[in-house]
Amino acid sequence: MDRVRIGLVGFGTVGGSFYRLLTANAGEFERRLGVAVDVPWLAVRDASRPRNVAPGTRVVQGWQAILDDNDLPIVVELAGGAEAPLPLVREALSRGKHVITANKALLSAHGRELLALAAENGVELKFEAAVCGGIPIIKVLSESLLGNRVRSIVGIVNGTTNYILTRMTEERLSFAEALAEAQKKGFAEADPTLDVSGGDAAQKIGLLGSLAFGCWIDPACVLTEGITTVEQKDIEFCQASGFQIKLVAQARLMDGVPLVTVFPALVPLDHPLAGVRNEFNGVLVDSDYLGPSMYEGRGAGGNPTASSVASDLGDLLKGILSKQVRRPFAGALPLAAAFPQGRMRSRYYFHFVTANRPGIWALVTGVCAETGINIESVHQKWEDKSKPSDLYVLVDEAEESQVRLAFSRITAAEGIRPASHYLRIVPSPAGGR
Ligand code: NDP
Ligand code: HSE
Repeated sequence: MDRVRIGLVGFGTVGGSFYRLLTANAGEFERRLGVAVDVPWLAVRDASRPRNVAPGTRVVQGWQAILDDNDLPIVVELAGGAEAPLPLVREALSRGKHVITANKALLSAHGRELLALAAENGVELKFEAAVCGGIPIIKVLSESLLGNRVRSIVGIVNGTTNYILTRMTEERLSFAEALAEAQKKGFAEADPTLDVSGGDAAQKIGLLGSLAFGCWIDPACVLTEGITTVEQKDIEFCQASGFQIKLVAQARLMDGVPLVTVFPALVPLDHPLAGVRNEFNGVLVDSDYLGPSMYEGRGAGGNPTASSVASDLGDLLKGILSKQVRRPFAGALPLAAAFPQGRMRSRYYFHFVTANRPGIWALVTGVCAETGINIESVHQKWEDKSKPSDLYVLVDEAEESQVRLAFSRITAAEGIRPASHYLRIVPSPAGGR
């Protein structure tokens, strides 16, 4: 039986699950690939804490022992952080070791350099676990759809925010209660601001878009909005109007140029993403020969993510055993141009919080008319004349620049409260309503 030694960095939610998977399913690697996987080194931040590992695994502080081990061809980085593991990954690739990572923050910030470094050194940088947890979406884009041109990717790619929005919708939990649950279940990032601000989803959709379109999407070019402005009132109104609110990540080719966005949006109930609940993720890919195809599964949590790390490990083992260096899918990628965000088109939902006095409807409808925005419907809810009321306006497809102008004019007017906001509406996949 062949034996391959790997170095594991990180023993938290994902690292711990991955180690347990290797132990529990060692027989699967042996049966399917004819190889035994040994983990001689486990690197953590604090090696003094007891860890439940087999006697053959030495727990060490920091990763130098892994880098210095010349009989160890694979490093698995599950520590996290955009900057801290950069020296580890650079050094491992430079020393001819393959690297598997689940770290989208690192890849988003440095992936272009690291993929090129891997290619230069004839090794692989694998990252299935970095996007959508257990869904094999990287494999779909880099292998299964290799013969297609991808036109668009529309997805729910963050498990924490989908969990929060689902719990707010179905159980009427507060945002804080739902976030605390997501953290307890191990879905959230060490700093959950990354999840709720849309940053984590932006890192992931940037990576998916880069693979799909063959050009590196600069994270700074991703329009990124989080879910902290979404209120229970929005969820209730939108549900009654036939929509679910979801954090939607999109990468589309517009006139041949990528438009990449992350924002909370109204998703019509007949859209495949509307039924993606809790920490599940879903990705709808539209490509020229296959057409639309949908991928769904658990997008966060230790075990699903460990499953993707194991898939990358299996791929590397096959290459190592057959002594083949696989040609990297993404080596030196050119930088992508960015489609102007102001030219993006969509239907929109406005929620104005307003004083209860004559002239508010006239103000809103007047500014929409002046800015060329066609109103579909207006609904007002007020409980009591002394309290602000909620004015919900759905409008026909318009350009983002028109909507920003109208919104800023309306919210600058007397009688409109700062809590006012707007969301975009995702079209049904068939292009209908
Ligand atoms: P955790 O915070 O649960 O675990 C991090 C682990 O890394 C800990 O064991 C920690 O050591 C170790 N570590 C941190 N810094 C260092 C260092 N400098 N040297 C050695 N070890 C270090 O994180 P997660 O498991 O949740 O996440 C890990 C990675 O996986 C992140 O990149 C994350 O974005 C990604 N990911 C997470 C998913 C999830 O659902 N949680 C899903 C998909 C990807 P110690 O135990 O001593 O503190
Ligand atoms: N925090 C991330 C999420 C983990 O909630 O999706 C999976 O990448």
